[in-house]
Amino acid sequence: MAVISLLDVRKDFPFFSQGLVYLDSAATSQKPKVVLDVMREFYEKNNANVHRGVYRLADMATQMYEAARKTVAEFIGAHPREIVFVRNATEAINLVAHSFGGSVVSKDDSILLTEMEHHSNIVPWQMLAKTKDAKLSFVPITESGQIELSAVRHGVSQKPKIFAFTHVSNVLGTINPAKEFIAEAHKCGVPVLLDASQSVPSMPVSVKDLDCDFLVFSGHKLLGPHIGVLYGKRELLERMEPFLCGGGMIKEVDFQSSTWNDVPWKFEAGTFDVPSAVGLASAIEYLNKVGMKNVMEHEQALARYAYDLLGKDPVVTLYGSDNRLNLVSFNVGDMHGHDVSTLLDQHGVCVRAGHHCAHPLMKRLGIPACVRVSFGVYSTKADVDKFMVALQKAKKVFGL
Ligand code: ALA
Repeated sequence: MAVISLLDVRKDFPFFSQGLVYLDSAATSQKPKVVLDVMREFYEKNNANVHRGVYRLADMATQMYEAARKTVAEFIGAHPREIVFVRNATEAINLVAHSFGGSVVSKDDSILLTEMEHHSNIVPWQMLAKTKDAKLSFVPITESGQIELSAVRHGVSQKPKIFAFTHVSNVLGTINPAKEFIAEAHKCGVPVLLDASQSVPSMPVSVKDLDCDFLVFSGHKLLGPHIGVLYGKRELLERMEPFLCGGGMIKEVDFQSSTWNDVPWKFEAGTFDVPSAVGLASAIEYLNKVGMKNVMEHEQALARYAYDLLGKDPVVTLYGSDNRLNLVSFNVGDMHGHDVSTLLDQHGVCVRAGHHCAHPLMKRLGIPACVRVSFGVYSTKADVDKFMVALQKAKKVFGL
C-alpha cells in the first residue's frame, strides 16, 4: 500500500484552493479528490440498485457496496456482518435506543449517560425513557472536563440497562479511557454504546480491543460522504427487532406478516446510499495510507499548539485539560462566541461557535456558548497562526 506523507495531504483536498482557513473539522471534514472521484465514477459507470437486480451491472454495484462494508469493518476491527449502514451517527443511536433499548428498558429502569454528551446521545435516550417511564442518570465531569473511573464505577453499579458515552468530547476534546469504562460496565453486566463520532476519524479505534457492544460514527467527519455506521456485536444485532421497515430488510412478505433478512441487512430498509458507502470506503483507504497513528499525532499536535498559544492570552478562557484530541474550545473576554466567529469569518477563518449541540454540557460549564477550533488531517500550523492573527483583529473590534 502506497503511503501518503502528511506533508503531501493538503494538496489532495480541492476545497483548500479557495484559500479559506477551515478550523471546523469536528463539525464536518473536507474531502480528498479521490473520494469525490470515486463517487462520481460510481454514478457515471456503476450506478444500479443493490441486492435486487441480477444483471451484471447490478451485481457489480452490490459487490462494491459489500466490499465497502468489509473495508469499514476492517478499519475498526469488526466483522462485516456487524456493520450496518445508516444515515449518520444520530440515526445509529436512534436505532440502538429503539431496537435494543426498547427491548431491555422497562418502567423505573435507568439509562446511564455522561454530562459531556452531545444532543445525539441524549435526546434518543430521553425519548426512550419517556416511552418506558424510565429515567436517565449522568456520570458527572470534573472541573477540568474529565470523567473519573470511580464515577463510572458508581454509575454502572446502579445497574442501568445501558451505558452510552462519547469516546471524545466534541466540546472539550477530552479522550475518555473507553476501554476501562467499558470493562467497568461489563463487570456489572451493563452493555455499552460508544459514540465514536469524534474518535474514529482521528485516532486508531478497534471494537475488538475496546469490547464495546455498540459503536457509532458518521462518514462525513471522516473525509467521506454523508453516511453513518453502526457497529453491533452480532449476537445483539441478531436479537434486535428492525428499526426501519420496507424493502431489502425482509426475507418474505405475506399479506399480514413478514420475516426479516439476516443481519446486517435486517437494518437496511429501502434503497441504500451505495455511492456514499463506496465513498466512505475510499476515505478509509485514504486515511489508512496516511496511517491513523500519524493522523492522531498530527491533529493532537495542532490542538496542543493552539491551546498553548490561546493559553498565553490573558482574556481567553480555555475549557478542558491537556487530555484532548484535536480541538480547543474557548471564550474571549465577554465577547459572545457568535461575534468571535463572525469577525474571524471576515478574515476567511471558519470556526464553530455556539452551544455545539451540547446544551447540558454548556449548563454544566456555566456558559451560554463558546468558540471551537478543530483540526483535520489536512490542517496545518500555518492555519493556527492565521487564526491567531485574525483573533487579535477580532479582539480589537471589542476593545480587548
Ligand atoms: N457534533 C458536531 C459538532 O460538534 C455537529 O460540530
